[in-house]
Amino acid sequence: MQKALLQVDGQSYELDIVIGSEGEKALDIAKLRDKTGYITLDVGYKNTGATTSGITFIDGEQGILRYRGYPIEQLAEFSTYLEIAYLLLYGELPTKAQLEQFERKIAERTLIHEDIKKFFDGFPSSAHPMGILASVVCSLSSFYPESLDPHAPDEVVERNIIRLLAKVPTLIAWIYKKRKGHPYMYPRNDKSYVANFLYMMFGMPTYDYEPDTHVVDALNKLLILHADHEQNCSTSTVRTVGSSQANIYASVAAGMCALWGPLHGGANQEVIEMLEMIRADGGNIQKWINRAKDKNDPFRLMGFGHRVYKNFDPRAKIIKQAADQVLNVLGIHDPVLDIAKKLEEVALSDPYFIERRLYPNVDFYSGIIYRALGIPVEMFTVMFAFGRLAGWLAQWWEMRRANEPIVRPRQVYTGPTLREYVPIAKRG
Ligand code: ACO
Repeated sequence: MQKALLQVDGQSYELDIVIGSEGEKALDIAKLRDKTGYITLDVGYKNTGATTSGITFIDGEQGILRYRGYPIEQLAEFSTYLEIAYLLLYGELPTKAQLEQFERKIAERTLIHEDIKKFFDGFPSSAHPMGILASVVCSLSSFYPESLDPHAPDEVVERNIIRLLAKVPTLIAWIYKKRKGHPYMYPRNDKSYVANFLYMMFGMPTYDYEPDTHVVDALNKLLILHADHEQNCSTSTVRTVGSSQANIYASVAAGMCALWGPLHGGANQEVIEMLEMIRADGGNIQKWINRAKDKNDPFRLMGFGHRVYKNFDPRAKIIKQAADQVLNVLGIHDPVLDIAKKLEEVALSDPYFIERRLYPNVDFYSGIIYRALGIPVEMFTVMFAFGRLAGWLAQWWEMRRANEPIVRPRQVYTGPTLREYVPIAKRG
């Protein structure tokens, strides 16, 4: 094993060098404190590897994203979301028979317990869909107590993974129906996974509904592009919560809460709201670019910048192209798409964005497609959660199978040093 030499307090210490299959290099500092008394400090984990993982590879400098070795461009072009979920979970692309069996197992579990319908009655119709989704997903654990056993065999874990993949689309569609005040539509297992979701969202008992194949294809693509993204904020949360041996429903619900934030998955909603605001304000792009650059102004260009991608986000490239195609095929002209393209053009030629290597991320164009598919803006982050579900489950399973220790970072304490308690009567 290769070693690195660390010199501290006049002494030399050897650290193991860990090299990943794509040549990524890491210093193993797990025993550093025992040997030297030092910890490492990295607020926001900007340069800290929290685990080794065989699921997703990103090269942020080159704009590369691969699931289990397969380039995202090929997967988005040719596969379906459930094929990708299988790949992420089991490590290999399924054969036709394996995929059919996987799809069947999921289709058999799309119904949700009738008592869960009552939960929906308790939420105000104005509730944010992410709050409902996270709470109902967590409460699924109470319907499946076998999931509480941290030592349950793989077949039990797998059953609960299948349940989540099967039930989350039903829950999302019912959240939408609740908002609209429309009757809940029960799943139809003779339809494909994505077509069934669209049927539950947009179908009504009063007429037949068959989703447009272009819409099914576009949604499959979006779900695939969101399916995993290695150790991002929400996925790290899923693994962190799972590392305490909390059940898979609680872990995934925690990931949903992390995704909700505007700096993470919540950005897709913020992007459309920002583009609408720019449009309503008269479409003066330069004014908003200037505001984004002004350090005294809290305004940021939502959908721009990424912790890992310092070149371009390959998902944004595919989504931008797909947005054009979907709008074309559905005969929609969305003026917000024109504003988005202009904003990108101006930003990418501005030294502020060039120097900081800020490019459009996955959220910049995705909302335009969601909107064209008829999905309301408050549901955008929920759609992100739908796609990311496969990745969260694969990452949780990987963490559990590797028997990873509980996540427990350290800190550098900067508060007061020891002082004596003064009774209140003497404090003046
Ligand atoms: N608009 C204007 N300036 C920006 C933006 C932006 N969108 N993003 C980063 N910057 C600037 C920062 O002000 C900072 O400038 P400075 O060096 O002069 O202080 C520099 O670029 C680096 O930014 P950081 O915030 O330090 O980068 P970090 O890696 O911590 O943050 C993040 C990444 C959160 C994605 C950030 O770029 C951002 O807030 N983007 C907008 C929100 C967004 O689109 N989030 C979705 C991300 S993708 C996803 O989660 C699915």
